Amino acid sequence: MGFSISTHSATENPGTAYLEEKETVLYRGWMLKKEDYQTFELLVLQKNARLFTSSSSYLATHHLPNWYDRLSLYTPETVAIADLETAENVLESLAWNKYFIKDFVKSVKTSIGSVITDSHELPKIIDEMMRLRGEIEGGLCIRRFEEFVPHTEVRYFAIEGEPFSPNRKPCPEPVWFAAKRIQSPFFSIDIAQRTDGVLRIVEIGDGQVSDRTGWSCDRLVEVLSQKLLK
Ligand SMILES: Nc1ncnc2c1ncn2[C@@H]1O[C@H](COP(=O)(O)OP(=O)(O)O)[C@@H](O)[C@H]1O
Ligand SMILES: [Mg+2]
Repeated sequence: MGFSISTHSATENPGTAYLEEKETVLYRGWMLKKEDYQTFELLVLQKNARLFTSSSSYLATHHLPNWYDRLSLYTPETVAIADLETAENVLESLAWNKYFIKDFVKSVKTSIGSVITDSHELPKIIDEMMRLRGEIEGGLCIRRFEEFVPHTEVRYFAIEGEPFSPNRKPCPEPVWFAAKRIQSPFFSIDIAQRTDGVLRIVEIGDGQVSDRTGWSCDRLVEVLSQKLLK
């Protein structure tokens, strides 16, 4: 469709030998930690090229606390905690029925899961995050549990403020809202239906590191090429 492609290793001798001057770079790959993305950006800038998504735009969607305030109307109530020592007390003071726990980036999807009903269960989740991922990225997010209808989650992508659906159907209102309010040229928006029928934003994420969940490769490249190769 007109894209040229190069591979990039963020971890082993990151370099940009493949890059032509003045090129615009769109990344597709694993989630990069803040520092690795910043290094990537620096290397690209040194080549006189530019990233489609700057490191500040990357973090605007990759780290939950950076987007939460802008989308709080549409997403479960969330408290971000930088200091893990205080987390159990914070949970207790919230006194919600159920808590959904993740770090700034990811939940625990396997084993014990991410949902607890009691603050004393928190250390167990933190240990599991450490065991599975080796670290807590950024800090903790305590989210109020909301009951979603199973299998209703749909991923949308926003490119330069315009939202796209996987099946060409119109995008619902919360997707438009996010597409207009978030300072990133390419990000995903996950919407699920709550049991009372209301559509909620489960999370947003950087489009470059989002899985294609529900999207064919052709459809994703088609919407990207519409916007990027114009
Ligand atoms: N506040 C919440 N209440 C209930 N279920 C939730 C909540 N947040 C997320 N979930 C469920 O857990 C899944 C994973 O959460 P998500 O925030 O998408 O984490 P991840 O970044 O690991 O994908 C979601 O797809 C949704 O089904
Ligand atoms: Mg998710």
